[in-house]
Amino acid sequence: MTRRKIAIVGCGQIGGVLALMLAERELGDILLLDIPEKEGVVKGKALDITQLRPEVGSDARIRGSVDFDDLAGSDLVLITAGMPRRPGMDREDLLQVNLAIVRNLAEKVRIHAPEAFVILTTNPLDAMVYAFHRLSGLPAQRVAGMAGALDTARFRTFIAMEIGISVRDVHCMVMGGHGPTMVPLPRTATVGGVPLACLLSPERIEAVVQRTRDAGTELVKLYASGSAYFSPAAGLLEMAEAYINDHKRLLPAAALCRGEYGIHDLFVGVPCIIGAGGIERIVEMPLAADEQAMLAKTVQAVEEAVAATGLRS
Ligand code: 2OP
Repeated sequence: MTRRKIAIVGCGQIGGVLALMLAERELGDILLLDIPEKEGVVKGKALDITQLRPEVGSDARIRGSVDFDDLAGSDLVLITAGMPRRPGMDREDLLQVNLAIVRNLAEKVRIHAPEAFVILTTNPLDAMVYAFHRLSGLPAQRVAGMAGALDTARFRTFIAMEIGISVRDVHCMVMGGHGPTMVPLPRTATVGGVPLACLLSPERIEAVVQRTRDAGTELVKLYASGSAYFSPAAGLLEMAEAYINDHKRLLPAAALCRGEYGIHDLFVGVPCIIGAGGIERIVEMPLAADEQAMLAKTVQAVEEAVAATGLRS
């Protein structure tokens, strides 16, 4: 049996942690790619992870490279490249720098891995996914942004911490753009099937919602020289696993909306079925008036970021 080829583009903090997580689960053979200036780091991380395999019982092959021709034959391309936020910056401050990186990568993927499923985590997320899709010409089903998985994991975490119960039993959904206008939906939250509203007061729910919206910024302040990486890597892993194992998970992801939720020609975080076909379907559900109003606000923020790329006609 041939193993799946998984390319991780960008061997910074997220890329390194993600390579480790993928290798531990033996989801495929891993190619770590970065620019020539990072050759030592990219090859070093690949070799370092290669040497821990006996301890975790994995035969995954991990290789580091600075030659983008090596993308050829990739089933899955996970893009973690890009400048991270620093304190005082919002995700939009990164737009022009990261757009240049995404433009270059879209070209490389189009040439070398046009059959791959591509997941991006570069910020500002929703605009960068839009740009990648536009510039690469890959079908919409095979281009997605990872943000909803992370934002939902954070929402689940803070709900569990607030009640003092296991994270395993908390399920909920965060929709919208990856930024301060994101839309955590407490109405969708259940704890072992019990509606959240039976367990927390409206004030405590609102505090949890706000902490979820601010979670990325809270970490930027703590790290002082970069942004979160363990939890974003886990979000990418969750989506990668759903694709490779054809799990058909229902996860929020930045997917191209063509009328769903009244959104047209924008990548925005919406509930998706993720399986071997990539984004196999966007799941629609009725929203309450206040949720719809929050979604309209987040869509406007995404529209503004996409307009700044100059790619939307
Ligand atoms: C975050 O929310 C890095 O944007 C990412 O932490």
